[in-house]
Amino acid sequence: MQEVIGACHEFHDKEFVDDWAERFVPTSERLELFSVIFLELKAEIPPNGCVVELGIGPGYLASYLLSRMPEIQYYGIDFSRRMLDIAKQRLSPHSGRIANIQADLLKDNWWMDVPMPVNAIITTWSLHDLGSPEKVELAYKKCAQVLQGRGMILNGDFIKPDKAKHEYEPGRFEIAKHIEILCRVGFKNAECLVILEEEIESPTAAQNYACFKGVL
Ligand SMILES: C[S@@+](CC[C@H](N)C(=O)[O-])C[C@H]1O[C@@H](n2cnc3c(N)ncnc32)[C@H](O)[C@@H]1O
Repeated sequence: MQEVIGACHEFHDKEFVDDWAERFVPTSERLELFSVIFLELKAEIPPNGCVVELGIGPGYLASYLLSRMPEIQYYGIDFSRRMLDIAKQRLSPHSGRIANIQADLLKDNWWMDVPMPVNAIITTWSLHDLGSPEKVELAYKKCAQVLQGRGMILNGDFIKPDKAKHEYEPGRFEIAKHIEILCRVGFKNAECLVILEEEIESPTAAQNYACFKGVL
């Protein structure tokens, strides 16, 4: 049987989350994605802008950005209590500028506690966990609504590479499809900024990710 590239997560299990957070640390390759997101935010939003991160996890990206953008206000969304606890601890030096919100991106009104206007919605390695292109489309669509006609989305996530030789879990899909969906829900000039850790022949579940940008 052909191997399916993907991962099984138990983000509501404390032991699993603690172990995962220690393993999925920002390596030099992953820091490249953080840098792409940082440079885009720095160029496009006001210095004291409002940034919302979907699936904040252990807070690695938030820590990277909050320490480089000293005036931004930050909101981290995640459905995992344990992830939010780890993020809270990591981000304590920035506690006046970050609020965490426990919510399921597919079930809850995660935007209700976020003050408008939001300048950017960002996310890394999270939306594929929603499970399918249709569910990612629902998330993209909600982001377009939350941004209320002004702002940007940056999604760094696992993809299925164009020349893929393996089957991928349904939440990991082609770059062209991400762009098509972003355009369909209203983002202009949707584009793929970068492809990172590309591996076609023998990929692990932690390789093959890209960063998408859409602007309203
Ligand atoms: C693979 S981790 C990535 C975490 C973090 N963005 C990072 O780069 O280290 C995915 C994160 O998304 C969260 N997540 C997955 N599905 C979610 C959902 N339906 N609603 C809210 N959060 C979700 C998980 O709890 C987890 O923290």
